[in-house]
Amino acid sequence: MTQATFNFPADFLWGTATAAHHVEGHNQNNDWWPWEQAGHILKGHTSGAACNWWDLETALRDLDTAVSLGTKAHRLSVEWSRIEPEPSVFDQHALDQYRALLEGMHQRGLEPMVTLHHFTNPQWLVAKGDFSSELIVEYFERYTRKVVEALGDLVPKWVTINEPLVYFTMRHVDKVFPQPDRPTGLRVGLGEVYRMWQCHAVAYHAIKAQYPQAQVGVAKNFPYFAPRNPRNPLDVWQRNLLWRYFNDSWMQGMVTGRAQWPFGRGTIKGLKDSFDFVGVNYYSRYFVQFGKLGTAVWPPETRLSDGGYGENYPDGLFEIIKYATQFKKPIYITENGIPDQADKMRPAYLLRHLRQVWQAVCFNFPVMGYYHWSLIDNFEWDRGWTQRFGLIEMDPETQARQLRPSGQLYGEICRTNSLSYSMVERYAIDQMPHLFPDSKLQRR
Ligand code: BGC
Repeated sequence: MTQATFNFPADFLWGTATAAHHVEGHNQNNDWWPWEQAGHILKGHTSGAACNWWDLETALRDLDTAVSLGTKAHRLSVEWSRIEPEPSVFDQHALDQYRALLEGMHQRGLEPMVTLHHFTNPQWLVAKGDFSSELIVEYFERYTRKVVEALGDLVPKWVTINEPLVYFTMRHVDKVFPQPDRPTGLRVGLGEVYRMWQCHAVAYHAIKAQYPQAQVGVAKNFPYFAPRNPRNPLDVWQRNLLWRYFNDSWMQGMVTGRAQWPFGRGTIKGLKDSFDFVGVNYYSRYFVQFGKLGTAVWPPETRLSDGGYGENYPDGLFEIIKYATQFKKPIYITENGIPDQADKMRPAYLLRHLRQVWQAVCFNFPVMGYYHWSLIDNFEWDRGWTQRFGLIEMDPETQARQLRPSGQLYGEICRTNSLSYSMVERYAIDQMPHLFPDSKLQRR
């Protein structure tokens, strides 16, 4: 019987990912909390206790599950509004708790990757203008320095800012992220991206000054944009425009040290070559149709994940990795996953995306690791609890947890460091023609 296996390199880093506001619960000092209370989340959901990760034991218990899957790394974020609940007031208790969490991870053999800014701002910072004000650069640098002083010896990998362009879009274009008490919109938003470059640059150097060997980068969301009609030059033109401004500009800024139009102009201090790895967050393909602003224009027959979030388009991940090789740095897949409460699509999604990662590795592309989004179902921003990304199913009402079949599959992949024929057979047999096209099943 065919027993083909796709093996990964021995040092390939298998991991999972979460971020503070998704899982901690009761983050009352950030801008999401009042926004949720005011009813802006789908179905009136709120983060509430989330996954109760501000309780150290609960967080470590979930991380024990991650360990049992055979993972060796976990990406998480620290919450600025806990660490600096008021301007210039740093909460030692919060820093100690993060320290205990990171120590617990090391004791379990999990290497932390820590994000400093993942979509949330302290309320006091919003009142001071956050990314619309030059002030944030100094504040972000100081916050970073504090965090690094307190935790740096435990953190080999850092992400300064999560998905700057998604943040810009959700806040200023779609306006589904907390709206500050001042105008938002395209013009303001473009300037905020400029400040994010500045913040990234100061944070990069603040970390490196204390820990030169630390690996620092950005987790950049790279959707795979495709023209809705590849034969329509206008669709192709608009797709190329989006690729350039959404996917490429941020990266070119970090490479050249210069702000890219329309997000500003001129050299940004410390920005040039300010990244040690490329963090790739990849979820789906999106179609671009000339004259339409949105990208959720899938062909009618497309099978979409919960809430119409996206499709299972693994080739896009390969294309993005190929694109990222131009930066000549290690590549980490810092997020990849699918909202799928019933776990009907996730096993196939996992196998087929990891097959693309394997292929990239075989091409000698420097993909060093993969962090699945997410370890556990959590509070999904403006979509609340309607979208479940977890390998672990979690009921926010009861806090009960259960590993999904896809979680078991991911465990087999991580523990054996491979994708096998038998896994496809047991978890997603309909994917056989894609994964093992020459298999017996097809010949039958
Ligand atoms: C974000 C996560 C989010 C995930 C799924 C990414 O854009 O970094 O915070 O939960 O997508 O929507």
